[in-house]
Amino acid sequence: MVTLRAAGESKAEIYAFGAHVVSWYDAAGRNHIYNSPKALYNGKKAIRGGIPVCFPQFGPRGPLKQHGFARTSTWVIDDNQDAFVPAVTLVLRDSAETRASAWPNQFETKLTVTLAADGDSLSLDLVVKNAQDSPFSFTCALHSYFACTSESVVLSDFAQLKYEDNADEGKPKAQEGDIVMGKKEIDRVYISTTDSISLNEAGLAISKVNFPDAVVWNPYVEKTAALADMPDDDWKKFVCIEPGAIVEPVQLEGGTTWRGSLVLSVDKK
Ligand code: BG6
Repeated sequence: MVTLRAAGESKAEIYAFGAHVVSWYDAAGRNHIYNSPKALYNGKKAIRGGIPVCFPQFGPRGPLKQHGFARTSTWVIDDNQDAFVPAVTLVLRDSAETRASAWPNQFETKLTVTLAADGDSLSLDLVVKNAQDSPFSFTCALHSYFACTSESVVLSDFAQLKYEDNADEGKPKAQEGDIVMGKKEIDRVYISTTDSISLNEAGLAISKVNFPDAVVWNPYVEKTAALADMPDDDWKKFVCIEPGAIVEPVQLEGGTTWRGSLVLSVDKK
């Protein structure tokens, strides 16, 4: 695990397994990332909570296991780290195992996590390089579990947007008004969302680039009870907002790269 530190009490912790951010404390010492106290760290199962990297497949949308193999792979720390910046770059390349999978492509994926000098902002930069001659496609998301009181969360940035409702057989729907969390299971893929999303209850501003879609997820009572690695009541402690390229897979020509970024900032308004 790598720990980044900057001003005040700020720090971010990132596991090489999954390139998985598990905490981000701002300068005042508030942790904005929920991580399950029952998460397993056995190098096999994805860590429950934090910010899993879903790649090269989001959810069940393809032949791979749920959310792809990146979150259950051990990434390596890139050789070129700037010692003067609180940042880390982790790299995942194709291996004998991934080449034998249902997504057998040659690739290099890098995740750079940077803690701002003032500690009040954390950025994640995901870069995917197609390292072969032929094109490939993928879907992805940064599956962020934000620490907050889910029953108080109202999201206002999704009005009028189209979404696929995973809690209702994937049916296409349109959002009317705000999303009120914490009243039932919410599992929706919002399509072509705005790049700025406010999570008022958590005191956070979320900004994304080149992730057209965003999943909004909270498992509520029954689904949480079915998660062995989360306490039954912990659905009350987070909401997931997951910027991604989901509905339209990214098509990447041989030798080219794709980049998507997520910036989380303490909302000082
Ligand atoms: C969300 C999906 O992204 O991840 C949900 O939309 C899913 O359907 C959730 O339940 C958690 O997935 P997992 O594989 O980590 O249990």
